[in-house]
Amino acid sequence: MDFVYNLLVALHLLGMAAVVGGWIAVRSGRTVTAPIVWGARAQIITGLVLVGIASAIKDDSHEVNNAKIAVKLVIALGVVAAAEIGAARARKGRDTGPLLDVAGGGAVANVLVAALW
Ligand code: HEM
Repeated sequence: MDFVYNLLVALHLLGMAAVVGGWIAVRSGRTVTAPIVWGARAQIITGLVLVGIASAIKDDSHEVNNAKIAVKLVIALGVVAAAEIGAARARKGRDTGPLLDVAGGGAVANVLVAALW
C-alpha cells in the first residue's frame, strides 16, 4: 500500500508540474526558458538546504538517505547543465536540440527517485 500511496504522490506532483510548467511553456514558446533555468538552480539549493536541516534535526522522520541524495544530486546537476547550455544557445538564436527534453526528463526522473525510493 505504501508503494501505491508514494506512486500517487509522484503522480500528484507531476500533475502539478504539468499544469504550472505547461502554463509557463505555452507563454514562453518551445525553448529552454529562464524559469526552467531558475527552477533547476533552485532545486539544487533547496535540496542541499533540506539535507542540511534534516541532518541537523536527526529524528526518525528526518533520516537522510545518502545514496538517494547522491543520485538526485547527479541527476539535478545534469538538469541544470542542460538548462544552462540550452538557455545560452536560445539567447544566441541557436537550436537547443534535445537539451529541453534532457532538462525536463531529468526533473521527472528526480521526482520519481524522490517519491519511490
Ligand atoms: C531536478 C531536481 C529535483 C527534483 C525535481 C526534486 C523533486 C523532489 C520532490 C518531488 C520531493 C518530494 C518527495 C516527497 O515528499 O516524498 C523531493 C524531496 C526531497 N528532495 Fe528533491 N528534487 C530535486 C533535487 C534535489 C537535490 C539536488 C537534493 C539534494 C541534494 C534534493 C533533496 C531532497 C530532500 C532531502 C527531500 C526530502 C524532503 C522531505 O520530505 O523531508 N532534491 N524532491
